[in-house]
Amino acid sequence: MKVFFRTYGCQMNVHDTEIMKGLLVNAGHAIVTELKMADLVVINTCAVRGKSENKVYSLIGRLKKNGYKVGVTGCVAQAMSDKLKKYNVEFIIGTRAITSITQAAEGMKEIDLEDHICEVNSKTPVLRDQKKHAWVNIIAGCDKFCTYCIVPYTRGRELSRPIEDIIDEVRLLALNGYNQVTFLGQNVDSYGKDLKDGTSLARLLELSQEIDGIKRFWFLTSYPSDITDELIDTVAKYPRISKNFHIPAQSGSDRILKKMNRRYSHREYLEIVNKIRSKVAGATIGGDIIVGFPTETDEDFEETLSLVRDAKYIRLNVAPYSPRNGTVASKLYPDDVTYSIKKKRMAKLTSLQHDIERSLNEEIIGQEVEIIIESNSDRRSYGRTIDNRMVLIDEMIPEGEILKVRLTAFKSGTLYGQMKVSAFAK
Ligand code: SAH
Ligand code: SF4
Ligand code: F3S
Repeated sequence: MKVFFRTYGCQMNVHDTEIMKGLLVNAGHAIVTELKMADLVVINTCAVRGKSENKVYSLIGRLKKNGYKVGVTGCVAQAMSDKLKKYNVEFIIGTRAITSITQAAEGMKEIDLEDHICEVNSKTPVLRDQKKHAWVNIIAGCDKFCTYCIVPYTRGRELSRPIEDIIDEVRLLALNGYNQVTFLGQNVDSYGKDLKDGTSLARLLELSQEIDGIKRFWFLTSYPSDITDELIDTVAKYPRISKNFHIPAQSGSDRILKKMNRRYSHREYLEIVNKIRSKVAGATIGGDIIVGFPTETDEDFEETLSLVRDAKYIRLNVAPYSPRNGTVASKLYPDDVTYSIKKKRMAKLTSLQHDIERSLNEEIIGQEVEIIIESNSDRRSYGRTIDNRMVLIDEMIPEGEILKVRLTAFKSGTLYGQMKVSAFAK
């Protein structure tokens, strides 16, 4: 069978798609990159906002109209299966049932919302998109229950993979020529808590240092108050661990943070950021903000602007609040901030963030940095620094190549670099 995948949502979903592709290929099926060649289309879905969910229904509608067979996996499949059933899709496979993909594709399973995520391990075949940089899930689920968020309902409770199995997978990746690994989790810094034997993200990162071949280790996403001193010290200690922390704040108003069930205050959040900056030389911080959470006033939003000013993010995702069925916020609080106010607040934050990015990038122009090439096309390549800045160079350089470049300019949001001696000219 020829299968085409369409993937929405976070890195977790991107990686789940890679696993499902691996399983299908292993069972003798083919993955196609052109829709018109497909016997089956699998949509791996995201439910984080109304917009992401609605994209799924309209895509199913279009595909069905054109006669395609459609299967649905991911977060919408897990949490909105009743609605999906009305669309007459071939199958619905939940986030923890991805190992059922082959049976589903072969028409032997229509629905699986059960939890057998523990079947995914270092021996599972994976067909990865990139040849040099690999995603590695280390913890499934989320136990935090932020009041606005659907993820705990779509991904289930936290379950950490055994540390030895993760290390086996990383070893295998290194043997297969990978030189970057990103450890993934909704709360990657919760890794190990449920194992109750002292396992932690810091310990995993430390153990990983024994593996040759991997030049950089990344981890995504960190929950602010779960960042331990041990983790910060580990990041500071080892040169192969990325100096970037992605730590969503969501809001700068203590009143809103409380309503969101985020377990830190504005002040505590900034203390964590400052601690990282004081201990990890050259650390950069990334963040997420939701604007227009119910009852958010101009004063609350001013607090968010102030937090963003002080946190000095290298990158920031801003999203308008979207009520999600089944969450505490959608039950308790009417969505009372109008879309036009949400849009204005988003624009303000985005413009502030542009200024911050400009100053953070202009201050490093002229410096020499080491980058690893992530992608290339059309005689241009993007490389990433250890502190997660993307650098564009005007040459075609193979994925995974490590090189030193001089940063030459920051224009329209893009950082440009130049190689000293062009080893890859032509
Ligand atoms: N585990 C991560 C984020 C997971 S969801 C964390 O704790 O931060 C990714 C991002 O989607 C969140 O950071 C948040 O900014 C956004 N998001 C989640 N639910 C949302 C909602 N109901 N409306 C708008 N944005 C939302
Ligand atoms: Fe959602 Fe909060 Fe869990 Fe992040 S920590 S996935 S925002 S519930
Ligand atoms: Fe979306 Fe599910 Fe990820 S809701 S953001 S795909 S965990």
